[in-house]
Amino acid sequence: MNLQFKGLPQKAVLKELESRLRKDFTFKSGKIIGSMCTSPHPIARRVYARYLDTNLGDSGLCPEVAELERETAQMIGSLLSNPEVCGHIVTGGTEANTLALWAAKRLSKKEHGEVIVPVSAHCSFDKAANMLGLKIVKVGLNNNFQVDVGAVEKALNPNTIAIVGVAGTTGLGVVDPIGELSKIALENNVYLHVDAAFGGFVLPFLRELSYNVPDFDFALPGVCSITVDPHKMGMAPIPAGGILFRNEAIRKTVAWKISYLAGGETEQATLVGTRSGASVIAVWALLKHLGVEGYKKIVRRCMRLTWKLVEEIKRIEGLDIVTEPTMNVVGLKSDVFDIHKVAYELRLRGWAISLFPSHIRIVVMPHVREKHIESFVEDLRKVAKKLGECKEREVLAISSV
Ligand SMILES: Cc1ncc(COP(=O)(O)O)c(C=O)c1O
Repeated sequence: MNLQFKGLPQKAVLKELESRLRKDFTFKSGKIIGSMCTSPHPIARRVYARYLDTNLGDSGLCPEVAELERETAQMIGSLLSNPEVCGHIVTGGTEANTLALWAAKRLSKKEHGEVIVPVSAHCSFDKAANMLGLKIVKVGLNNNFQVDVGAVEKALNPNTIAIVGVAGTTGLGVVDPIGELSKIALENNVYLHVDAAFGGFVLPFLRELSYNVPDFDFALPGVCSITVDPHKMGMAPIPAGGILFRNEAIRKTVAWKISYLAGGETEQATLVGTRSGASVIAVWALLKHLGVEGYKKIVRRCMRLTWKLVEEIKRIEGLDIVTEPTMNVVGLKSDVFDIHKVAYELRLRGWAISLFPSHIRIVVMPHVREKHIESFVEDLRKVAKKLGECKEREVLAISSV
C-alpha cells in the first residue's frame, strides 16, 4: 500500500480503524484464555495515556520519572525479598532475560560461555544466546516438570557462565527448585537468573494466601537477577517487562553512558534507547493503587476459577490435566484424542487457546470471568463428545473391514 498524498480527516481514520479491528480478539469477550497478558487495569490505562510523551531513554529530561522507576523496582523488589534491588521496566520478558544473560556474560568475561537452561524455559533465552554469542545447554525435567537438578550439576563445566531457573514456566506455570539451583550457583561461582516473568506477580500473593510457596527469589543468596513482568499478572499496559538485579554492581555491567542527549549525559541500561516513561509511571501507579491487598484479591479470584476449571476438566471423559496447577496456568491433555484436534475444534468455536507439543495451555488471567470458564467447559464437553463419536465410528469402520 502506498502512502496517500492527502491525509484523511481524523473521524474517517478512526471509523476505518473501528471497522477493521472489530474482528480481532478482545479480552472483554473472555475468549482469550491462552495468553499471559490481560486487559490493563483502569488506573494504568489512564496514567499511560496521560504521560505518553515521557522518554526514559533521555532521563535527564525527566529525572522525576527516573526516580519513579527506582521506586517501582524497589516496590517489586520488596515483593521478592529485596527492596534494595536495582532494575528497569523494559519491553517485556524477552528483553529482561536478554539483559540478564548479557550481565552474566560481562561478569564472566567469557565471550562464548555456556548457559544452562531447563527445556521448559522460554524461547527468549535461545534468542538472547544467539544474539550474545552464548551456547545454550538444555537440561531435562523431573517427574514434576521441574528442572532436573542432577542434570544441571552434570551440565556444569568451566565454560558455564549462568544457570537459569524458572518460577512459573510458560507451558505449565511450574516453579523450578530454585533453592537447590542457588546452592549450586554459589558453590560453582556461577550467575543464577530466575525467570519469574509470570510467577513474579503471582507467587508472593499465593504465599500471602497461605499456599506453600518455596523460596524462589532474592531470599536465596545465589540469585543474581529476576525477570518479573508487570504486563503479565501485574495488569500493566504493554510494554512493561521487568528486570531486577540483586545489586548495582551487576546492573552496571549493562549500563552505557550516552552523551548526546537533550537532557545531558545519561546512562542507559536497557537494550533499547528511547523508551516509554508512561510504561513506568503506569506500573508505579498500579503498585501504589493495588498494594499487596489488591493483588492478593486478584490472584485469589484467578486461583478460584483455576480450580473450578480443573475440577470440570477432570469430569470430562477423554480429557485430563497434565499436572495439578501451581498457579493460574492449566495444562489440558488427552490420552484418548489427538490434542491438535482438540485445539482445532476449540479454535473453531472461537477460543484463543495456546498449543504446546503435547498439551493445551489455559491461563486464567484477571479478565477471565466465571461465565467464560463455564462457557469454555461447555464447549470442551461438546468437543470431547464429537471427537469421542468420531473415534467410535473409526473403530466400527475398522472392525467391519
Ligand atoms: C516465563 C516467561 N519468560 C519470558 C517470557 C517472554 O515475555 P515477553 O513475551 O513479554 O517478551 C514469557 C512469555 O510468556 C514467559 O512465559
